[in-house]
Amino acid sequence: MTTTAGHEVLLDAARRARENAVAAFSKFRVGAAVRTKSGKIYSGCNVENASYGLTICAERVAIFKALSEGEREFDAIAVVTDADKLTPPCGACRQIIWEFCRDAEVVLGNLKGKTETHRMSALLPHPFDSSNL
Ligand code: THU
Repeated sequence: MTTTAGHEVLLDAARRARENAVAAFSKFRVGAAVRTKSGKIYSGCNVENASYGLTICAERVAIFKALSEGEREFDAIAVVTDADKLTPPCGACRQIIWEFCRDAEVVLGNLKGKTETHRMSALLPHPFDSSNL
């Protein structure tokens, strides 16, 4: 873990995206923002629905939005909630972040300004990816 420096713009984008969270069931609102290596930012929020299991996390919404716009190279992703204990990506999102963002910085933040930054290789050691196929 390192301290967070220079990630305010990314965290702000995630905070704004969180306001659009579709979280009627859990009430747990999440915003994410992924940054391309060229500096563009794509954001996303969690999207829940009545079937529960089709819920998609904010991180994957942000990454899939960016991928669908043709982006392929990323260096950081931010995740913001209002929880005192910062919210790290779930296991499914770690897999997707690793596959598309590789060893990106994962910047966690909350609404009180608490932040910390991790490397994906620390969050997902011994990953499965295309090198295993
Ligand atoms: N969620 C995210 O969007 N990202 C995370 O990192 C953790 C969990 C969402 C999924 C669900 O809508 C709600 O938070 C509660 O799990």
